[in-house]
Amino acid sequence: MHKVIFDTDPGVDDAMALLFLHNHPEIDLIGITTVFGNASIETTTRNALFLKREWGIGAPVAKGDGKTYNPMRNPIDWPVMIHGHDGLGNIDVPDTIDLPLDPRPAHRFIIETVRANPGEVTLIAVGRMSNLAYALKEDPDIAGLVKQVIIMGGAFDVPGNITPAAEANIHGDPEAADVVMGAAWKVVVVGLDVTMKTVMLRKRLADLTAQNGKHLKLLSDISQFYIDFYGQHVKDEGMVVHDSCACVYLVAPELFTTCSGAIRVVAGGIADGQTIQKPDSRGFPPGNWDDLPSQHACIGIDAEKVMALLDETL
Ligand code: BDR
Ligand code: CA
Repeated sequence: MHKVIFDTDPGVDDAMALLFLHNHPEIDLIGITTVFGNASIETTTRNALFLKREWGIGAPVAKGDGKTYNPMRNPIDWPVMIHGHDGLGNIDVPDTIDLPLDPRPAHRFIIETVRANPGEVTLIAVGRMSNLAYALKEDPDIAGLVKQVIIMGGAFDVPGNITPAAEANIHGDPEAADVVMGAAWKVVVVGLDVTMKTVMLRKRLADLTAQNGKHLKLLSDISQFYIDFYGQHVKDEGMVVHDSCACVYLVAPELFTTCSGAIRVVAGGIADGQTIQKPDSRGFPPGNWDDLPSQHACIGIDAEKVMALLDETL
């Protein structure tokens, strides 16, 4: 059984990933921590509670503090044209959800849960890396106690999606992402190089909904606005399932190929938020990358099999 803390900014594709984690028989979802990104921290937290209630998810929800790692950095406007004003495709989510939050802030929840389950917890982070970086700042030794960290974010050999250089999750808090990539834990980065190849067609989602009823009906309702956006700007009649790819990696890493090497994140300037890997297979003159841990960036994917596993699990 994989014990997972899901660090998320729901978010339409986050909602799909959450349902995958909840449904998969080999995954024990032991916590949901919220971060700002697709909407404000208030909205993403309300959305996490809403999805927990609607889908009967048992895991506690702990709220992030909504701050970037570098306090001088201004929060970026929420992508309302992609995820809607409510972060869930403008389906009129109720303003408040009558469920309690975990009393701890997200980074504290991460620290205490990892310490209570040494060597067993996988962190799947599909929003800004702020909560993970704050957890490392407060308790750096948790790096040695986490099983692995799987991140949806970054773009290595493809353009970004918020600037030509940067992917949105990394661009929203680059200093946090650089801390996370440089820590002494195993990081796997599932970025745009592979996620842009995974598309759930509108028709396919409708067929799955017809077969499976209530839970998928909500997911389908949430997703229509996002599919409209992707249909106009990126892919025909379907949604790119970024965050689900990171979750699929956990249970089927053989469907991905990776490149290993130290990863840094550019902070500031025209390439703000760009992810760069120094492949282990390449020699360079000695430099300040040498002491960094080697991490894994996904460069290839069997998209057909990933989508089949997602279909089956949803
Ligand atoms: C990432 O940004 C967010 O909009 C999505 O939820 C995903 O995590 C894709 O760049
Ligand atoms: Ca997300």
